[in-house]
Amino acid sequence: MTPKDIHDLSADEWDELNDPRPEGNDFDKVVERAISRRGFLGGVLAFGSGAAVMGTGLLKGTTAMAQPASRFPFTPIAAQTDGTVHVPEGYSWKTLVRWGDPLFSDAANAYDPKAGVSVEFADRVMGENTDGMELYNVDGREILVVNSEYTNNKVNLPHREDGLPGSLDDVRILQHLQGVTVMELAQNDDGWSVVLDSPYNRRIHHNTPMTFSGPAAGHDLLKTEADPTGMASLGTMNNCGSGRTPWGTYLTCEENFNGYFGAASEVSADSMVMDGFKRYGVSTKVDAGRYNYHGFDARFDVATNPNEPHRAGYIVEIDPANPDMTPIKHTALGRFKHENAAYGIAADGRVVVYMGDDERGEFMYRWVSNGIYVPGEDTSSLLVEGTLSVAVFEDDMNGRWVPLTPATTGMDAAHIAVFTRMAASKVGATTMDRPEWIAVHPNASEAYCCLTNNSRRGVLNDDGTVRTNAGGDPMTVNAVNPRDTNKYGQIVRWRPEGGDHGADGFSWDLYVMAGNPTVHADGPMAGSANINAGNLFNSPDGMVIDSTGLIWIQTDGDDDNEGDFAGMGNNQMLAGDPVTGRIERFLTGPNGCEVTGLCWSTDRRTMFVGIQHPGSNWPDGEGNLPRSAVVAVTRDDGGLVG
Ligand code: FEO
Ligand code: CA
Ligand code: CA
Ligand code: CA
Repeated sequence: MTPKDIHDLSADEWDELNDPRPEGNDFDKVVERAISRRGFLGGVLAFGSGAAVMGTGLLKGTTAMAQPASRFPFTPIAAQTDGTVHVPEGYSWKTLVRWGDPLFSDAANAYDPKAGVSVEFADRVMGENTDGMELYNVDGREILVVNSEYTNNKVNLPHREDGLPGSLDDVRILQHLQGVTVMELAQNDDGWSVVLDSPYNRRIHHNTPMTFSGPAAGHDLLKTEADPTGMASLGTMNNCGSGRTPWGTYLTCEENFNGYFGAASEVSADSMVMDGFKRYGVSTKVDAGRYNYHGFDARFDVATNPNEPHRAGYIVEIDPANPDMTPIKHTALGRFKHENAAYGIAADGRVVVYMGDDERGEFMYRWVSNGIYVPGEDTSSLLVEGTLSVAVFEDDMNGRWVPLTPATTGMDAAHIAVFTRMAASKVGATTMDRPEWIAVHPNASEAYCCLTNNSRRGVLNDDGTVRTNAGGDPMTVNAVNPRDTNKYGQIVRWRPEGGDHGADGFSWDLYVMAGNPTVHADGPMAGSANINAGNLFNSPDGMVIDSTGLIWIQTDGDDDNEGDFAGMGNNQMLAGDPVTGRIERFLTGPNGCEVTGLCWSTDRRTMFVGIQHPGSNWPDGEGNLPRSAVVAVTRDDGGLVG
């Protein structure tokens, strides 16, 4: 069925399409059970019929039926396939800052629409490929902190046909356009803009001095030729999602750090290090690799610096109020492909941080500090001393956090911090469908994680065994990851025992299974009952719950709008009601992009949304390079947006 067919449906046909799907085999029952947890089922079903009416009204462009319920402060928009951003009627968006825009007045002309940014200014402009971000009010000034996850090399090095650096300058351009941008914002009648030369403006990139905390700090595994102390790392890499601490600092999360390393010659290292390369995907093949940093910057050559990859893959703390602060890599929170970091406070005041490891078949983690958070008191040990645990999800919809300690893993604390994935494999953690962002509900004792997709879930090898992660843990279909070759993704929600994020037990359900009921009339591919033709999406990724309790879901999926993805359009941002399960589309991005990163101005009248790797010439138009950017979304009546 094409999107055009959907326009022609009557309300009856629409209801038919959204009928509860027939009970099938035992597998289907597991799925059904996962999405119909007591207390949630009623809401979803009640919503199911309402959604049908709503969706039809919306798609037909009528007004009466398309009026949003009060829970959603907007009229949902249709899927889009064009090259720009769309928001609901009564809302507007405006570009705030793009890759290459200056932070300092000497970099005012740093960006060239044909050549990008030269090495001289690469660390004085907004980085490329915006991702997680948070906003802070520091002494009345609005400070935005934004990750730049990676570079599109061909866009950044237009003089290099293959996109691979051909000189150390090329390497530095790429290195300095990634990391983190800290910038002060100001608002006037024209909207928001970056305050040039603000004392808070700062770029943190692949060569910025950092320090380590926690059990691996100073350990032999972190020592390199350049840093025999194992305490002074250079740079933060592949800064994906974000987090914030209750004490006002920023957490940047190092994800696919492995891709920057390569080998200029044969690699030999001890077996634990070699096993680590395999588990974390660090290539030891002698070739140019993905970035060819190692061709010009020996730090990234694992043949000569085998410990360098051990210095990335962490949660890194940055104080946006102090531009002189040396960022801290907190090894106690584990080394893996960190997506984001979402905090909660345990009943007794300890700090809890939930984290996902985004790779097929990797795990979900939780940090609980030893000390309690007391506003205004010393917080320096709260991400240093505590317990890291990993999630086990049972098919009976209960689960538990299993601590990673020398007693449970047989590894010492430093090795647990550096080879966290291997430690987690030892305690039987549940292999997940790529955990992306986690969001903690600010007003209810529950948290959510986007499990974006997993093409290898349940897939068999030639010998009949099931595919595993790189550590050999099988990706068998289970209740929390209930679909083989999962192409749409799902969002799991858990409620800690006793409403205490510090408790080790939890119960869980699936908040939504994305799917396409217009292509698959029934079965798991149709998705859960809160998916309908009006809110189709795939691959949930970014996620933030706002102060009103709405769940904002951003997608990073297949946007070809064909076949199994027909009717989904470009990547997008939707809002979900945690109580009813109802989900509505709020924003669509330009084609080719991923929508990622979300925060609000202090007065909550502006929402900042990140547009990463747009495929067209957005936002500058024909003849210009595509530029990732942060956009500011406001209500035309000046009202609150979250
Ligand atoms: Fe950088 Fe898993 O997204
Ligand atoms: Ca992501
Ligand atoms: Ca993703
Ligand atoms: Ca991305």
